[in-house]
Amino acid sequence: MSGAVGQPLLDLLRCPTCGGPYQRHGDRLQCACGIVVAVRSGIPRFVDDDGYVKSFSFEWQKHARTQLDSASAVARSERDFQSRLDRPLEWLNGKLVLDAGCGMGRYAEVAARYGATVVGLDFSFAIDVARANLSGWPNVQLVQADLTRPPFARETFDLVYSFGVLHHTPNAEQSFLAAADLVKPGGVMAMFVYSSYNKAFVYSSDFWRRLTTKLPYQLLYWLCGASVPLYYLYSLPVIGLIGKSCLPISMESDWRWRWLDTFDWYSPRFQSKHTHAEVASWFLRAGFDQLFIGPGEVTMLGVRGSDQ
Ligand SMILES: C[S@@+](CC[C@H](N)C(=O)[O-])C[C@H]1O[C@@H](n2cnc3c(N)ncnc32)[C@H](O)[C@@H]1O
Ligand SMILES: [Zn+2]
Repeated sequence: MSGAVGQPLLDLLRCPTCGGPYQRHGDRLQCACGIVVAVRSGIPRFVDDDGYVKSFSFEWQKHARTQLDSASAVARSERDFQSRLDRPLEWLNGKLVLDAGCGMGRYAEVAARYGATVVGLDFSFAIDVARANLSGWPNVQLVQADLTRPPFARETFDLVYSFGVLHHTPNAEQSFLAAADLVKPGGVMAMFVYSSYNKAFVYSSDFWRRLTTKLPYQLLYWLCGASVPLYYLYSLPVIGLIGKSCLPISMESDWRWRWLDTFDWYSPRFQSKHTHAEVASWFLRAGFDQLFIGPGEVTMLGVRGSDQ
């Protein structure tokens, strides 16, 4: 990834307002309709700031490399990606892929390692963290944009994946349809969103979130640090069950992941939960079939019919 917008990315970009291509204009991009897009650190910025995803700008700056495979002893992101793809990761080789809501870039790194040409898109300033993490991969390009107004033409990508993102938008179904529309006929969409099945968990965490989403991020972050010792208490038989129901925390065994995931749960402004039936209906409505249900939460993949 270089400091300028490379030609391969420029060729893919389309104005979200009129659909036209961009030309370089000094250090910015300009569309024929007159809209100008700022470019900072080589990343086109299709949003003015980080809008409703400020908690993620904070989170991924704090935990820039916690979940990055290349910075860890275990290839957890690769393993999770594999479990959601329903085909060997080698399938990624030569594919044009969109990581919709790439965060600090952990899954983009996996796709790049397996030979895909990857575009990472994120609304938050996590995109700058992704840039630092992925600077060694010439096959990765990044854009800061809202996935509901994507700067790409319909039916552009062989694979669009969106892991843990759509439930953090104001309307997960609308966001899904916007992302799914970017998949080529015969291409693949893979995603996961939170599930709504565990009612006790949903009820108590929604109760706490009414307070936690109003706290300053730094204060909330330190409060979430309580998850580090609480984990040991919550690992006990009866008291653990009560604790997990009354004040849920992440039960990740790695304490940094636990702290990060607890903050990730209690901080975002939007957080919706869904069922498999609901998500399957989104896929079918967008013209996808061959649905595959992956492990954990509501994890699903579909193949876009070629008659779209
Ligand atoms: C929980 S993080 C997941 C990041 C990454 N997919 C991962 O699993 O590490 C959710 C990400 O979605 C991004 N996001 C939320 N709403 C978005 C939107 N409308 N457009 C683009 N990105 C969005 C946030 O900025 C954040 O980085
Ligand atoms: Zn335009």
